[in-house]
Amino acid sequence: MSCFVYIFVSLALFLSSGLNLSPSCNRRHGLCTAPWKKWGGSCYLITQKPLTYDDAREACRRLGAKMAAPRSDQENDFLANLTQGSEIWVACTDRRQEGEWECEGSQDGERIYTNWIDDQPDNGGGKEHCAAIWSPDNKWNDYRCKRDLLAVCKRQPRTHCFTTNSEGRLEADSCL
Ligand SMILES: *[C@@H]1O[C@H](CO)[C@@H](O)[C@H](O)[C@H]1NC(C)=O
Repeated sequence: MSCFVYIFVSLALFLSSGLNLSPSCNRRHGLCTAPWKKWGGSCYLITQKPLTYDDAREACRRLGAKMAAPRSDQENDFLANLTQGSEIWVACTDRRQEGEWECEGSQDGERIYTNWIDDQPDNGGGKEHCAAIWSPDNKWNDYRCKRDLLAVCKRQPRTHCFTTNSEGRLEADSCL
């Protein structure tokens, strides 16, 4: 009988010491870590400088994001507010087929939102195939894709993992 008690106590001590030694792992869901800004369940970040349409898309891709194409008046206004009046690309282009506008996400069957100025898009000079939010009324115009404009990158919030030691201090910002 005492042998069982001994085994039980040893096992309990072994387990509790094991628990004390191993750092605890914490997860926080749905975070937009700075400098990303959270809005409507996504994270947004303005490119650091004006870029061509293709370079802006690539800059967003490198950040694990996509160049934003708004899906509602509210999101359109939010993007315009972010850049405080600077014109910005929206991820919509008719380069593949003139007059057939495709936006980020529309290749996956998502509804296309557009917000053109009344007499736009006009494909000025036959060379305007990329869409931008135009100040000050946040409507859209079509521009040459080679222009340099700011853009907004959009990505899903992340689950942030961090480990703490037995005193609750932060040890690492990712869990194994
Ligand atoms: C954009 O800014 C305007 C003016 O400051 C404000 O009224 C509006 O609520 C903002 N919209 C969004 C979606 O943040």
